[in-house]
Amino acid sequence: CALLGTSVSATAGPVLDDIVKTGELRVCFDAGYMPFEMKSKNGSFVGFDIDIGKMMARQMGVKYVPVNTAWDGIIPTLLTGKCHIINAGMTINAQRNMRVNFAEPYIIVGQTILLNPELEGKIKSYKDLNDSKYTIATKLGTTGEQAIKRMISKAKLNVFETQSDAVLEVANGKADAFIYDMPFNAIYASQNTGKVVHLEQPFTYEPLGWAVAQGDMDMLNFLNNFLRQIKGDGTYERIYDKWFKD
Ligand code: ARG
Repeated sequence: CALLGTSVSATAGPVLDDIVKTGELRVCFDAGYMPFEMKSKNGSFVGFDIDIGKMMARQMGVKYVPVNTAWDGIIPTLLTGKCHIINAGMTINAQRNMRVNFAEPYIIVGQTILLNPELEGKIKSYKDLNDSKYTIATKLGTTGEQAIKRMISKAKLNVFETQSDAVLEVANGKADAFIYDMPFNAIYASQNTGKVVHLEQPFTYEPLGWAVAQGDMDMLNFLNNFLRQIKGDGTYERIYDKWFKD
């Protein structure tokens, strides 16, 4: 720019730049986390996060490319550039925020408990589970695992690669409780009546947000403005109702 006596680059930040250059928005998620991301019978990915990710790509004018990734490796996958964004119901917390940037939260959830029906009435909150005679199952690398270690440390903890394996432990009587994000538990309980009892009161506060690599304010700015727009114009509500109301 001649006026400033310096050259001003017209290039966006590295992430947005790559999205424009490749014509693709590559989105990391971990399927199996209801109702945010699931693999349908025909092999395609469906859910709340998937619909919002597709909307994002549409507004960017690029193709939506799903990148289904094991939860445990999802941040490294982002940081090595295999995807541009994590849109996977990821809880915004300090520990993760040291490694990635988060857009404003798009929903707030918390951990709840699915109980073995035999414990109904005996266990009324997570505090009652804090005893070495109880076994709790959850998914590896999640805030559920962190919450159990922090708040229910006396119980025996069994972690599993997938949420479906972990929750099965309670349904078949091998664990006393399964702890995970409330929306997942609510759906699982409604599909498995008699096998589990849902204690619906969340005992943690968990804003979920889209994660991007650090140092790209342009991408973050796009995401926050995109979120405000879809929340204001009814798009968010329409997609929310599709997946959260039955
Ligand atoms: N909100 C929890 C966390 O951040 C669980 C998210 C699991 N997401 C998934 N796509 N499997 O740890």
